Amino acid sequence: MKPSCVEFSLEVREKYSHDWTEDLRFIPDAVALPTSSAELQAVLAYAYERGIPIIPAGGRTGLSGGMLPVFGGWVISMEKLNRILHIDTANLFAVVEAGVITQELQEAVERYGLLYPPDPSSRGSCTIGGNIAHNAGGVRAVKYGTTREYVLGLEAFLPDGRPLKTGSTTLKNSTGYNLTQLLVGSEGTLAVIYSATLKLLPHPRHVRTLLFGFPDAVSAVEAVVEVLQSGILPSAIEFMEREAVLFGEAYLGEKLYPQAEALGGFLLVEVDGNHVEALEADCVQIEERALAAGAKQSWYAQTTEERDRLWRLRRCLGIAVKSSGPYKEEDTAVPRTVLPSLLQKVKTLGRSYGFRSVCYGHVGDGNLHINILREGLPDTVWNKEIPKAIEELFHFVVAHGGALSGEHGIGWVQRRYMPIQFAEHELLLMRQLKQVFDPKGLLNPGKIFP
Ligand code: LAC
Ligand code: ZN
Repeated sequence: MKPSCVEFSLEVREKYSHDWTEDLRFIPDAVALPTSSAELQAVLAYAYERGIPIIPAGGRTGLSGGMLPVFGGWVISMEKLNRILHIDTANLFAVVEAGVITQELQEAVERYGLLYPPDPSSRGSCTIGGNIAHNAGGVRAVKYGTTREYVLGLEAFLPDGRPLKTGSTTLKNSTGYNLTQLLVGSEGTLAVIYSATLKLLPHPRHVRTLLFGFPDAVSAVEAVVEVLQSGILPSAIEFMEREAVLFGEAYLGEKLYPQAEALGGFLLVEVDGNHVEALEADCVQIEERALAAGAKQSWYAQTTEERDRLWRLRRCLGIAVKSSGPYKEEDTAVPRTVLPSLLQKVKTLGRSYGFRSVCYGHVGDGNLHINILREGLPDTVWNKEIPKAIEELFHFVVAHGGALSGEHGIGWVQRRYMPIQFAEHELLLMRQLKQVFDPKGLLNPGKIFP
């Protein structure tokens, strides 16, 4: 019998035809909205028997087109599987359904003095399941790592509906193959994640936030290594070039960063811990390092409001660039020392291919978001020339020990570049793994592989 949680109306199908990736749209044949694990399992079994492709969806905030139903099929939206099942304040873990909004989990555990560190800019609408599927990062990765580091175990379903339980509730586990971490970052191509056991930490009691302005963008990213050599590990080191700040301010309709026009690049640095005096001493040292590295201005957020202003701008950049018009977002990750030459490479490519770019990102961990703006570029340039520029960019990244994506995943829009990172036999090995989990090739088809 057809599961009752499946919707076929065009209105619903249109709503699930896109995520936040460019302006891409693919209308699914149906949308399933299961409200229990049993219902999820029933939908999968029903679709499997009939050879219907299944595309798991979370908050649909992805930037690599991971949930686009490119070959039709049914989207399974996890949004109604949104219960926090358990917060274990003694053993420091939480068990949550995949559809829980990331910020809701952060706030729920904070009420117990606990921290769930992964903190993507889309935290108000992305989901834990989507974060796990893409190994989402965010602004705290420099100190706390990405989603991967917090996933202790998973309950998932194989495409035919058989349950798959991985990991445990313990911090240590050396028992068999690590299927938990194979599923993290697998972008819904191996199994559908129903729930996760997530590691929590004690919440640091205090934070201090600094902003540094540099004369140019390259000297701002050069300063990252210098700041870390202070021996202090900030909880965030975020970079914004001038254009990014101006996009953000235009989007918010507010001047938030002092003298943005006169400066070339900014670093937003935050430290966290339990002792104010220690944090303030850390800030002094970090400031010394930043000034020695060429910062022309430094600001210290005196109040929570000031801190929020600094972060409000940073967190809106993705949506600010998106709302300005068509663009392509590259999510490069490199060793930190490579950041200055990566930035120079982007600008050189921009001059030779004729595009303007806006760069910002989590430079504390080497993750630079490169937004290539379409503006007036004609179709031929946008569709034929720009991919060549991106190819050149990725060759540079890989040659310097980096990765095509730090946190947004490969999905639909980056798959053509995978051979830059992997040899043919390595890609074949990944395809063979996919085959073991999903012999009919029904789970999120068309993703990751070129
Ligand atoms: C950010 C998103 C785009 O860093 O990853 O804002
Ligand atoms: Zn990011």
